[in-house]
Amino acid sequence: MPNSVVIIGDSPIPDRPSRDLIIYARDSGLNAMYVPISRISVKVDKDGPLTVIRDRPFKVDGVFLRSLGVLIDVETFFRRTITMRLIEESGTVVINPLDGLLRTRNKLETTVILKSKGLPVPDTIGTEDILYAYEMAKSMKDVVIKPLQGSRGYGAVKVSDADIAFQIMRTLLTFKKPIYLQKYIEKPNRDIRVMVIDGEVFGCMIRVAPLGQWKTNVAQGAVGKPCTNIDKTVMELAVKSVEALDLIYGGVDIGEGKDGYVIFEVNGSPDWAELTAVTGRNPAKALVLSMMRRLKA
Ligand SMILES: Nc1ncnc2c1ncn2[C@@H]1O[C@H](COP(=O)(O)OP(=O)(O)O)[C@@H](O)[C@H]1O
Ligand SMILES: [Mg+2]
Repeated sequence: MPNSVVIIGDSPIPDRPSRDLIIYARDSGLNAMYVPISRISVKVDKDGPLTVIRDRPFKVDGVFLRSLGVLIDVETFFRRTITMRLIEESGTVVINPLDGLLRTRNKLETTVILKSKGLPVPDTIGTEDILYAYEMAKSMKDVVIKPLQGSRGYGAVKVSDADIAFQIMRTLLTFKKPIYLQKYIEKPNRDIRVMVIDGEVFGCMIRVAPLGQWKTNVAQGAVGKPCTNIDKTVMELAVKSVEALDLIYGGVDIGEGKDGYVIFEVNGSPDWAELTAVTGRNPAKALVLSMMRRLKA
């Protein structure tokens, strides 16, 4: 019997990375399909806790965990987390592991971990205290206010006036959202996206934002260019960041600040269409190989 792997995500139909994983997994002789996390239930009865799909045990050898959902209620988040934990604890190989993915989903936690491991990050405040946030926005001068979870650049704002920052931050609190405030790092209109898989650099691209724009997300109009003349230090920072968060793979966003490199974030389920176009190599292939190595071990 070939090994079975499932790609788990939030959307009813697989996105592009999920489809890539299915294709390469099937090419490699694995049974592969996509399942939205909302279809997997938890059942607790005399036989113990179990994950099921319509009362049929959900038992697979490997899972590529791509998303637990973004715009979801906290109770749905709890339900999905314990569902994934049960799957992981049943011995299924999970890439990325649940805890690693949760760390990257929370930008504040990522920043705290990276800093505590001595890696360079922007000065950051995570707070619900508006007066403190206001004081910090004043002292940092140019600030970035970002959603706490990855958002492809949507909703991140750069503000130079502490009172405008105040209005934005107070509105966030009104809607029960925390404040994630960072010092704005002066940088060229580009950053470096490094994809790390199994402790090695898989590929890299420079993301060039439209002139005058500070966000370098592809979703915000940035274009990927080949990584030429990139310092070895950048690659080392990327590998160390992914390792610090206990991830099997990750896409690391690194900026070239005046005082050195800074890590903006680590993506635990990055998109890779642009990287594939720029490098000519699809990470899905390497991820399937990584899965197969783990299934054999
Ligand atoms: N503190 C900052 N200073 C300067 N640029 C930033 C800062 N934070 C984010 N950026 C820019 O915005 C982009 C998006 O921010 P990021 O933290 O990666 O969030 P996401 O990609 O999840 O929206 C980064 O790639 C970077 O170009
Ligand atoms: Mg990013």
